[in-house]
Amino acid sequence: MMPSSPQWKAYRKMEPDHGTQKKGTLCQKLSKYAVIFLFLAVFGLIFLLRNVNTAENWNCHTVSALDQHQSRIQSKLPTFHNHTFCAHLGQKPSPEELELEERYLLDSIAWPGPPPRSSPVALNQTSDPVHSLFTLPIKEGREWHVGDQLEALVQMHDFQGRPKIYGGDFLLARLHSPELGAGVAGKVLDHRNGSYSALFPLLWEGSAQVEVTLVHSSEAVAVLRRLREEQPQRVFYKSLFRSGSHSETTVCNMCLPPDQKLQCNYTDLSTGEPWYCYKPKVLGCDTRINHATGGYVKNLLTSKEAPLFQSDVNIKVHIHASGPDRINVLPPRKDRAEVESSVKPEAIQHAPSGYYYKDSWRSLNGVTMRQFNESSAITQCLKDKVIYMNGDSTVRQWFEHLLAFVPELKQFNLHSPKKIGPFMAVDSTHNILLKYRCHGPPIRFSAVIANEFRYISNELDGLSGGPNTVAVLSIWAHFSTYPVEVYIRRLRHIRRAVLRLLDRAPGTIIVIRSANLRALDPEVSLYDSDWYSLQLDEVLRAMFKGLNVLLVDAWQMTLAHRLPHDLHPPPAIIKNMIDMLLSHVCQKSHQ
Ligand SMILES: *[C@@H]1O[C@H](CO)[C@@H](O)[C@H](O)[C@H]1NC(C)=O
Ligand SMILES: *[C@@H]1O[C@H](CO)[C@@H](O)[C@H](O)[C@H]1NC(C)=O
Ligand SMILES: *[C@@H]1O[C@H](CO)[C@@H](O)[C@H](O)[C@H]1NC(C)=O
Ligand SMILES: *[C@@H]1O[C@H](CO)[C@@H](O)[C@H](O)[C@H]1NC(C)=O
Repeated sequence: MMPSSPQWKAYRKMEPDHGTQKKGTLCQKLSKYAVIFLFLAVFGLIFLLRNVNTAENWNCHTVSALDQHQSRIQSKLPTFHNHTFCAHLGQKPSPEELELEERYLLDSIAWPGPPPRSSPVALNQTSDPVHSLFTLPIKEGREWHVGDQLEALVQMHDFQGRPKIYGGDFLLARLHSPELGAGVAGKVLDHRNGSYSALFPLLWEGSAQVEVTLVHSSEAVAVLRRLREEQPQRVFYKSLFRSGSHSETTVCNMCLPPDQKLQCNYTDLSTGEPWYCYKPKVLGCDTRINHATGGYVKNLLTSKEAPLFQSDVNIKVHIHASGPDRINVLPPRKDRAEVESSVKPEAIQHAPSGYYYKDSWRSLNGVTMRQFNESSAITQCLKDKVIYMNGDSTVRQWFEHLLAFVPELKQFNLHSPKKIGPFMAVDSTHNILLKYRCHGPPIRFSAVIANEFRYISNELDGLSGGPNTVAVLSIWAHFSTYPVEVYIRRLRHIRRAVLRLLDRAPGTIIVIRSANLRALDPEVSLYDSDWYSLQLDEVLRAMFKGLNVLLVDAWQMTLAHRLPHDLHPPPAIIKNMIDMLLSHVCQKSHQ
């Protein structure tokens, strides 16, 4: 699923020179349309001056005049649906980007679905983990060695026990050994006929047990996809506005339905990232105090769809083996050539980024893992560093973990709201500064101060960077309810800022934390299913592939681990993530 097309590569190489490329086309356009531009500019100026002159009160009237103007524009624009959600409100990507990147990314995450039907599917025709089975290719005399690949074949069945004949089920697979504290993520291939292969590299000697889980049936995934395209506002936001003793609260989102109500436009000027709130009745748009989760739209499912989401029935239920579910792995074969030929090409393409052994993560991506068990090892590693953490609560966890494990790091009291930030911690002896700030909207935090809102790309643009700077980013969990294009646009801005930062300060260390698995129930699934996260995660990997950044693979680190999935993974997993972060930072610093 990683980008590999020549077109993609050509585009990515081109990107740092984007500015010069654009200038060429812009100049051509300018000469062509200069007359029209000039006319519009003069017209706009006259319009603006007229409004300013007639305004009795700058603060109130200008804002509402602009608002009226906006809502008139908005009502003419297409409403959001499927692949055009809010596209008209953001910065338009150039045609090459649309052509090459967006199409490429959307194609790469295309997900097969059930065949179209005239009537809704009945539960008994959908995938049932209890009737489904997987098989290991175990034969008399067959030996498994470290370096081989194991393929488990999964056959899905419906609730009546009939084999499924189309794909699209969301399966997770892992190979593990509880005795050895070992585990690795499997790669699932959809044969689109009701059968799937789960591929595992054999990385340790001893026992290895296969675990296959149905996260959602293909019929349920089709419902999730429908919700993502048709109900992008199923999570909504609100803002408090206040001036003097008067306060009002209104609903906000990336895009609001173009109805009669006036709107405040909080679109970010440097990125063009859209954000809107309904205008308070009395107060002006500049009196916004905070941003918070507004709520979750309920009753999203029809009575036929609801049974597709049942805990212990068809959400994250294990699929059993038809025979043995474990093998014994022998030491690597003596003959190396034989090892290589026994590994299939797919296994190399989708190589795991690491695996657990004795409960510690061993990276296969070139990071020599060290364990930082002592706080002195951590302060030694981070000496003279400024670490900026930007993102959602899953990277705030890293901030909290470091704070808890390193007594020398003292949190500076910024009087920020709990669990929201911004936060800052200092170790003045070792000259370490650690900062955390949440990413810009959408973010489902209880109340972020509006003036503290920053988009990650703008934050990166504000850094001077260099070998003493570590920028850690995590942005995924709050985008699951929107069409993928919204996430693509956000990451595109971040990637450009990363490229600019690495260009002006090449030694800067950039670390990106990927999405992770979480606990799902029928309700959580509709807003935050792992299926949404998986789609975003594949886009994230593609966006930053080939760049000089470290990806901490939270997806595989939570999939391969024995502990239950959790939006905020347990300390044992966070410790491994921090070990990876620090191993990378120190490896880089001592090169
Ligand atoms: C909101 O503001 C941005 C930036 O100024 C602008 O590009 C966009 O068109 C505005 N939105 C509407 C609906 O007027
Ligand atoms: C998007 O929605 C429009 C109108 O609802 C529909 O005509 C179009 O086929 C949809 N496009 C896709 C790609 O689903
Ligand atoms: C499904 O497709 C796979 C891969 O093409 C094939 O090996 C398998 O036999 C097919 N299964 C059925 C039931 O047709
Ligand atoms: C760190 O702690 C783990 C678990 O207690 C232990 O297995 C490992 O050997 C320790 N590593 C170092 C470098 O102290």
